[in-house]
Amino acid sequence: MKIIETLNLIFKYKTYTENQETPEEKTVLDDVSISIKKGDFVGILGHNGSGKSTLARQLTALLQPSGGTVFIKNMDSSRPENIIPIRRTAGMVFQNPDNQIIGNLVEEDVAFGPENLGVPTEQIWTRIAEALEATGMTAYREKSPGSLSGGQKQKVAIAGILAMEPECIVFDEPTAMLDPRGRKEVLDAIRHLNRDKGITVIYITHHIEEVEHADYIYVMNEGQVAMEGRPEQLWEQADAIRALGISLPFDKELLFLLRQGGMDIPAEIQDGRALEKFLLQSGPGNIEQDNS
Ligand SMILES: Nc1ncnc2c1ncn2[C@@H]1O[C@H](COP(=O)(O)OP(=O)(O)OP(=O)(O)O)[C@@H](O)[C@H]1O
Ligand SMILES: [Mg+2]
Repeated sequence: MKIIETLNLIFKYKTYTENQETPEEKTVLDDVSISIKKGDFVGILGHNGSGKSTLARQLTALLQPSGGTVFIKNMDSSRPENIIPIRRTAGMVFQNPDNQIIGNLVEEDVAFGPENLGVPTEQIWTRIAEALEATGMTAYREKSPGSLSGGQKQKVAIAGILAMEPECIVFDEPTAMLDPRGRKEVLDAIRHLNRDKGITVIYITHHIEEVEHADYIYVMNEGQVAMEGRPEQLWEQADAIRALGISLPFDKELLFLLRQGGMDIPAEIQDGRALEKFLLQSGPGNIEQDNS
């Protein structure tokens, strides 16, 4: 079942300059049609300025189309009466956790979203407990967000969205400000929400490794969907991905370069582990030859 669909979505920013009476229009999303299945983890890749954040805002009704249509659970985002129900269905987590945290205590911060939705107080307490549990932040409930690490703050921001009980969450480069450890913590928490809580995840990133396990990936370029497919389908098109300014996951990149350099690696070898085994089996012979 589809939870989000865009049909020939177009979005143009209008920019006004002092001397001009009519604004200049810049097309940022150009005929984007994507379809997201309920329960999936969908990756969106693309270089800087390719339109990822603008698309994220369209999927959560923070922006409305200039052309084409966006449906979130069959609700057309261009209809004003659908905006609030859409925002309840699809939440969004941004890049910088500092811009999303408003409470003095972690629990206050997590309560903010459901309070705004008018959720009754007793239910809010249950939701806070569940959201902190799901993100592994229960122990920090009464701490000040200011005292937390970047990764912990981002998990509080995620708990805040989670407490609104959305069916779908759009993450716009949620690990961009984090160190490798924080990145892993946050990604693990998000994968848990997807796998164990059934929340549909749309995950925007530059780090291809973070979407290696996605159910489906869209690659954006110049406001258009340049490539799409399951991860393994994309890895087979290494040249095309690289032409879009995106490198493959490290092991896939290495396999690609070794094959391109003429090494005869059987086609069934697809990842780092299999490559390691293959090299260990065939490697010592080569090394002996080199040394003799
Ligand atoms: N408020 C705005 N007004 C005018 N143009 C904008 C506005 N926001 C974004 N743009 C332009 O739209 C294009 C796409 O921007 P967007 O932020 O969606 O890209 P992105 O893929 O998220 O990039 P990044 O990887 O840097 O986050 C860019 O050319 C940008 O300059
Ligand atoms: Mg962006």
